[in-house]
Amino acid sequence: MPVKLEQVERIAVELGERRYVIEIALNAVSVVPMADLVTGPQALLVSDSHVAPLHLQYVLSRLLEQGNMQSAKRVETLVIPSGESNKSFAQAEVIFAKLAQMQATRDVTLIALGGGVIGDLVGFAAALWMRGVRFVQLPTSLLAMVDSSVGGKTAVNLTAGKNLVGAFWQPSAVVIDISLLQTLPAREYFSGLAEVLKYGAIADLDFFNWLEQNADALAMRDADTLMQAIAKSCAHKAAIVVRDEREQGERAHLNFGHTFGHALEAATRYQSLLHGEAVAIGMVRAAKLSASSGKLPVEAVQRISDLLRRWFLPTSVSDLETASSPALSASALLELMRLDKKNRAGELRLVLLSQLGQAYVATASDAQILQAWSDSD
Ligand code: GLY
Repeated sequence: MPVKLEQVERIAVELGERRYVIEIALNAVSVVPMADLVTGPQALLVSDSHVAPLHLQYVLSRLLEQGNMQSAKRVETLVIPSGESNKSFAQAEVIFAKLAQMQATRDVTLIALGGGVIGDLVGFAAALWMRGVRFVQLPTSLLAMVDSSVGGKTAVNLTAGKNLVGAFWQPSAVVIDISLLQTLPAREYFSGLAEVLKYGAIADLDFFNWLEQNADALAMRDADTLMQAIAKSCAHKAAIVVRDEREQGERAHLNFGHTFGHALEAATRYQSLLHGEAVAIGMVRAAKLSASSGKLPVEAVQRISDLLRRWFLPTSVSDLETASSPALSASALLELMRLDKKNRAGELRLVLLSQLGQAYVATASDAQILQAWSDSD
């Protein structure tokens, strides 16, 4: 049955006193009582230079609406230049300067309107301002909707690496408006679908089957199908975060394909590959390693690869224009994988699959990793 315009799907992230609800709707900004998201006298709505012209004014007007009256609350706005390079201390300082100018106190609400960069940056600022204030995620990219806006990982990048400085700081609410995806560029949209597939691969065979059956509807951004895919992804993310908020165990499964993917992103200097594209290649590498060193049937590797390809995603280094660059050689990529946060005592640890829908963490030898990088699709 088609989803109704006013239908809101609610998923609770049950973290005790820090419990919050993810609200998902086709037109969430219109149907969720947005003014209630600001609980104190003032708020700062932060967006980036790409998203702000598209959505900032509408979101701002909804935050200020209260019945027929204008709210007494003060909501200021700040626009950060778009792009991964702005997930930085420098831009966090810009947010702090704005908060200082607003004379923002502990009851301020920070609101992140944007993709993963804005969500992580604003969350980071919220974790630090006055030792932690309320923040709300309004994700505008598919990747942020199904992954980074939920779970409280906040960070900025250093020249030495991505996300090296950060804090676990949970949002107080996440509002997902599916209509905002209509303005998302195609490459970014498909890149987000890689993270959706991840939940099927690591935790839910039925969902993986459903994604295969609905791959074309998702490619066409069909709203009802998207609503189901996003709700299922958020439900998986919420459940994993509740069981392992600080990534002592199971939460690491969310990094399936990411150790390979992060190496590719670093090798291409975060410029030519989107995160989900790197993760797509990474998931196929991790699945191949799972098949060669474990129990995963080869046919499962093929299913992952085929589904990614239906969404126009790359599945091996040979799909990249710069495939012959020395930076993308198997040995150069292996060196970059040694920096991964999951590694312990010099051992490389990877998320592998025992079957479609079931993940585990294991160590892998250099030879196995070199082989996984070298295998073509
Ligand atoms: N994006 C992975 C996590 O939140 O743990």
